[in-house]
Amino acid sequence: MRISLVAGARPNFMKLAPLVTALKNRSIRPRIVHTGQHYDEKMSEAFFDDLGIPTPDVNLGVGSGSHVFQIAEVMRRFETDLSEHPADAVVVMGDVNSTLAAALASQKSGIRVAHVEAGLRSFDRTMPEEINRILTDAISDWLFTSEPSAEVNLKREGIDSSKIHFVGNVMIDTLLAHSARARELQYCRKLDLAEQKYQLVTMHRPSNVDQPERLESILQALRQLGEELPTVFVVHPRTRQRLEEPRMKRLVTGGGFIMIEPLGYLAMLSLMQTARIVLTDSGGMQEETTALGIPCLTLRENTERPITVEEGTNQLVGWKTAAILAAARRILDEPPKAGRIPEKWDGKASNRIVDVLSQLEKN
Ligand code: UD1
Repeated sequence: MRISLVAGARPNFMKLAPLVTALKNRSIRPRIVHTGQHYDEKMSEAFFDDLGIPTPDVNLGVGSGSHVFQIAEVMRRFETDLSEHPADAVVVMGDVNSTLAAALASQKSGIRVAHVEAGLRSFDRTMPEEINRILTDAISDWLFTSEPSAEVNLKREGIDSSKIHFVGNVMIDTLLAHSARARELQYCRKLDLAEQKYQLVTMHRPSNVDQPERLESILQALRQLGEELPTVFVVHPRTRQRLEEPRMKRLVTGGGFIMIEPLGYLAMLSLMQTARIVLTDSGGMQEETTALGIPCLTLRENTERPITVEEGTNQLVGWKTAAILAAARRILDEPPKAGRIPEKWDGKASNRIVDVLSQLEKN
């Protein structure tokens, strides 16, 4: 069975790792295709090293550009790769530009597509990822879902239930596999911080960082919280560009801010494990904090991962200073919401995916 796994941006790499392992355990060596959407050492290689993912068989070297440029270039370059290295199935994951582009190029080359993390919907079409999710799902042959809401969404969009497989969350496979190593790392000590004595922040969504009013409002909240709980702010390249603006720069200078470059997987997991609160607009961290039982305030009005709010430790707080402060205050003053681990977030999702894909061999 010839399988190509395609990953391009940071949130793909932790989904790629357990799939490579699960395939290897069945003696299947996949072709690993890196699109090159993320290319900085800190956004890419650091994850391959930490997660022990083999070096990609090819890097398509797409790099930065407009969304149309990224999608078009991945399609062009991946089409060539597929013609030179035909596959029985292509596996794409998540919702980044590379996900949609690779799915489309595969279908146009007559190769079937499996989408890992299918069916998630924020119902906000201004979010670039939402378009990527809807279109990727519409053209995929296998839709592997991580939470029950996804199946409901897919059926509403007319997708045949025989294509949908509720397998659980591959990202949690990775988290469970690396939890002990991350705990040993105690990364907070490297920043001279004690466990539970800091808030951990990440932010990179255009809806937050590309809108000065919203960015400023969030930074004001963090600054006020910083008076009692230092803020470890792990800065994404997109956000770094926005924070160069003098007014924003002033807001993150002093005031309890500890500004650091993007971290590898283990360091980030370690910081999440021992944070008092996590504030983020990342999709992945909403799920990881739920799996860890750490309170998470999501700096968005919606989430495509509702189970993290219904069952986990996540709360949506948006971008307004007062709302963020009120929610953080409740966590600091009262025992935080305990949450429970969602169904099938048990470290076995990638095995379930490989079970389904293995049926290909019998056809
Ligand atoms: C992308 C994904 C988003 C994901 C995020 C995680 C899409 C539409 N968005 O957003 O779903 O949550 O990755 O990181 O695919 N840059 C660098 N170095 C890099 C990569 C990017 O400096 O290695 C810069 C780019 O030049 C650009 C900015 O960061 O200015 C944004 O990169 P881009 O890939 O366009 O999207 P992200 O915001 O990272």
